[in-house]
Amino acid sequence: MSTTDDELRRRKYEEALEVKSLRRIISAYINYPEAAEDDVKRYERSFRRLPVAHKALLTHLPLKYQKLRRCISKNTFFIFEMLKAFEPPVDMSQDDDVCDHLDDGSCGHVHAHSEDRDPCCGSASISGRSHSNKSGEVCAGHEGKNGNCCEPESGNVAVGLECQKDTHKDGCDNATCVKDQNSHDSLTVANKDTSSVPPESPDYFESMPHFHVPLVDVDKVRCVIRNIVRDWAAEGQKERDQCYKPILEELVRHFPERSKESPPTCLVPGAGLGRLALEISCLGFISQGNEFSYYMMICSSFILNQTQDVGEWTIHPWIHSNCNSLSDADQLRAVSIPDIHPAGAGITEGFSMCGGDFVEVYNDPSQVGAWDAVVTCFFLDTAHNIVEYIEIISKILKDGGVWINLGPLLYHFADMYGQEDEMSVELSLEDVKRVAIHYGFKLEVEKTIETTYTTNPRAMMQNHYFSAFWTMRKVGTGVQESMDE
Ligand SMILES: C[S@@+](CC[C@H](N)C(=O)[O-])C[C@H]1O[C@@H](n2cnc3c(N)ncnc32)[C@H](O)[C@@H]1O
Repeated sequence: MSTTDDELRRRKYEEALEVKSLRRIISAYINYPEAAEDDVKRYERSFRRLPVAHKALLTHLPLKYQKLRRCISKNTFFIFEMLKAFEPPVDMSQDDDVCDHLDDGSCGHVHAHSEDRDPCCGSASISGRSHSNKSGEVCAGHEGKNGNCCEPESGNVAVGLECQKDTHKDGCDNATCVKDQNSHDSLTVANKDTSSVPPESPDYFESMPHFHVPLVDVDKVRCVIRNIVRDWAAEGQKERDQCYKPILEELVRHFPERSKESPPTCLVPGAGLGRLALEISCLGFISQGNEFSYYMMICSSFILNQTQDVGEWTIHPWIHSNCNSLSDADQLRAVSIPDIHPAGAGITEGFSMCGGDFVEVYNDPSQVGAWDAVVTCFFLDTAHNIVEYIEIISKILKDGGVWINLGPLLYHFADMYGQEDEMSVELSLEDVKRVAIHYGFKLEVEKTIETTYTTNPRAMMQNHYFSAFWTMRKVGTGVQESMDE
């Protein structure tokens, strides 16, 4: 078989995996209302089993369950509008034949890729390393070494980064371009009335191939909902002040004069739902978020590109846990999103989100010395091999460039019982810093910052991290000192 045939076969294989992975994620989103309804039914069953005298004390609970159903409907409405706006970057109509011939079982509905696991919400990756794939396009039709990038421009047109050089200039046909604030397209606006939302999937989704997924997948959807609060709700402001503000202040300190003609460049690997990358853009940087989870990208794309107004959507993010609530009202409370209109926030030209695995996308010759700053927030511990992350960050920074980090070391692939081949190198903070120095970094600022992560601010239990915060400057490219010392 010729190399071209091999390449074609490989691409077909990768695309089939991509389609499978995406189907599973879309299915998880579509399964959301049913899984939530199952929970409510379970609460009702427990209530019915109560002795009469106990029931008499809790007569408000049946009404709470009805209210829960209305909250689920609102969340479902948001999710389905988000899915409708999503343009899959791969041909979703292809049948499963290619996958059926895959011998690694990765097409099964319940197969868990290593990439399925993520701290906050897990992720079936856009371009997971297990299927080394640079073609997990978020931008339909784009194929660039730089992953799958989209960048907004000041008009209504948003162009993929790679596409600036090629023929694909017809605008935002992809998942993650931010539209300009003057764009008034067909979306309806402002606090949509969801009273008529049926609890089941609307017809639209009947035609979309989907299947039952394990509950663990639906959990990832719930986790995305919590991430929405962190990034895009007024309620998340306190958490953003803890996590994002120190980073933004540090960026401003290091780049006091940011030229409009030639803004500094900043990369945000593991950008989640994109708020930090957007804030950096608003400060006058050419900012690029990189994210490999389709769960996240579908949502960030919707918020960044499709929202027209502050508070356009209402969700009920905290309904899925009955634990640690001060009151039912707290648990059921509505949260308006977004707290800002992303396209009107004052982004700097060149803002983009780039889908794909950080290692695959940025460990590329075109990226060497490309960035003035790299910002990692709750990202380093997502690595299979944190040394590789640090090596790449060093490579892609310009000499004198800065790396700002905030986060714990809650290694995502630690303790993956039953998956013995899952690589996970778990270093202490001390070793992480030693490795960084080895790759040419000089530690300039270091402190501990107490933060939460996607925490319900009104819950009785709140996990706090004593996050490591640092700024390191790239002062060399080679070994600074022996690692044995
Ligand atoms: C804990 S979340 C933090 C998100 C965001 N930085 C924040 O502070 O809210 C880690 C993010 O990194 C993403 N991620 C994990 N591994 C990645 C990789 N190899 N390449 C790109 N993104 C990755 C995950 O999908 C997830 O969205």
